[in-house]
Amino acid sequence: STLLLLHGPNLNLLGTREPEIYGSESLENINTRLRDTATASGHELLSFQSNHEGALVDRIQQAAGEGVSHILINPAAYTHTSVAIRDALLAVAIPFTEIHLSNPHSREEFRHHSFLSDIAQGVVVGFGPQSYDVALNGILSTLA
Ligand code: DQA
Repeated sequence: STLLLLHGPNLNLLGTREPEIYGSESLENINTRLRDTATASGHELLSFQSNHEGALVDRIQQAAGEGVSHILINPAAYTHTSVAIRDALLAVAIPFTEIHLSNPHSREEFRHHSFLSDIAQGVVVGFGPQSYDVALNGILSTLA
């Protein structure tokens, strides 16, 4: 299967951005590790990061024509604001897993609501960069 890993705003700064919250691993490192895990299981993993809501919407729409069978997404701040990303995921009807490095529920009140969690197949939060691995392993276990 083809999987798509999406990262929202400011995640290009992973490794240097508030490392006490988000850890010291770079986004490139996470992408490479996940791609290797997917490849080792006979799958393909594409990845994309943007600081722009519309670019993420465009990438989700594009996934429909690429035969993507599952989307892994850390929507970052758009988690708490974006009806457009929710609607794009509903439009393409590709099952997805929501991922967060931190546990948004233990942080500011404005991070407690997600526009995606109720329509996600799964949600993984709070394990730092390992949240991505937990999510990918969960998805791989459901794929043929
Ligand atoms: C985040 C949590 C969000 O609240 C925040 O805006 C982020 C990162 C996380 O992975 O913990 O940018 O999605």
